[in-house]
Amino acid sequence: MTATLLNTTDLGINFGAFAAVSEVNLRLIPGQRQALIGPNGAGKTSLINLLTGVYKPTFGSIYLGEENINQLSFDARVRKGLVRTFQLNTLCLGMTPLDTVLMALAERENKGHVWWKPTYQFDALYAEAEQLLQQVGLGDVMQHKVGELAYGKQRLLEIALALALKPKVLLLDEPAAGIPEGESDEIFHVIEQLPQTMSVVFIEHDMDLVFHFAQRIAVLVAGKIIVDGTADEIVDHPLVREAYLGADFCAKGKAA
Ligand SMILES: Nc1ncnc2c1ncn2[C@@H]1O[C@H](COP(=O)(O)OP(=O)(O)OP(=O)(O)O)[C@@H](O)[C@H]1O
Ligand SMILES: [Mg+2]
Repeated sequence: MTATLLNTTDLGINFGAFAAVSEVNLRLIPGQRQALIGPNGAGKTSLINLLTGVYKPTFGSIYLGEENINQLSFDARVRKGLVRTFQLNTLCLGMTPLDTVLMALAERENKGHVWWKPTYQFDALYAEAEQLLQQVGLGDVMQHKVGELAYGKQRLLEIALALALKPKVLLLDEPAAGIPEGESDEIFHVIEQLPQTMSVVFIEHDMDLVFHFAQRIAVLVAGKIIVDGTADEIVDHPLVREAYLGADFCAKGKAA
């Protein structure tokens, strides 16, 4: 059996009497492209917050490999390879993508304190930054100002920054939100092409994108995963039809 990268056992969180997430058993293997879908307020972001350590669970456990990581901080989890994208507002609009990624790499290597020195001394980091930017399709704009990039390209830069931290599991909360229709494919193509050693969990509302790019789809309703399976397995599932998406969703899934 393939080694499990991340798994949860009966994971849940209550806010007061309200169960935002409950009884979640999720298993990720290397290379998995796992979508997390569900109506607004279903608990998708809360689940990501539990996995990354922003929230501490009320119930259950999270294992990274064999290790129970319930008590680890957000930063400690990042160091172990559980990484979510940076928020856009942390980008410095006056910098270039190249310098932005170089700074993240220098921080990772604890060389941030010599950042004032010419960065290009750091040949290995420079090469890595260039490679990361090419990987996310920003090779041709890496010397432009971040503020001049289209919004979709700024979101690709967020992904490059997350990749700079060498994730084993990458968590993306609506990576294509706010991007004009037609351009979000680019983001998901980048996600699809990430190394097979990594697993990726993404939240996405656009069902065409989900059916096209996810290998597995977990459907969260009122905090619980009601079905977790391949597109074929969920598209006709009576619980999914009944609880969430309706005929339109099923038609889309079949066309995908
Ligand atoms: N820190 C918190 N304190 C209290 N309630 C919270 C907190 N975080 C989330 N919730 C509640 O938990 C429920 C799930 O919220 P969550 O943001 O996880 O949903 P979601 O599935 O990501 O929704 P959306 O698709 O709108 O992003 C909501 O009712 C929300 O109000
Ligand atoms: Mg959310």
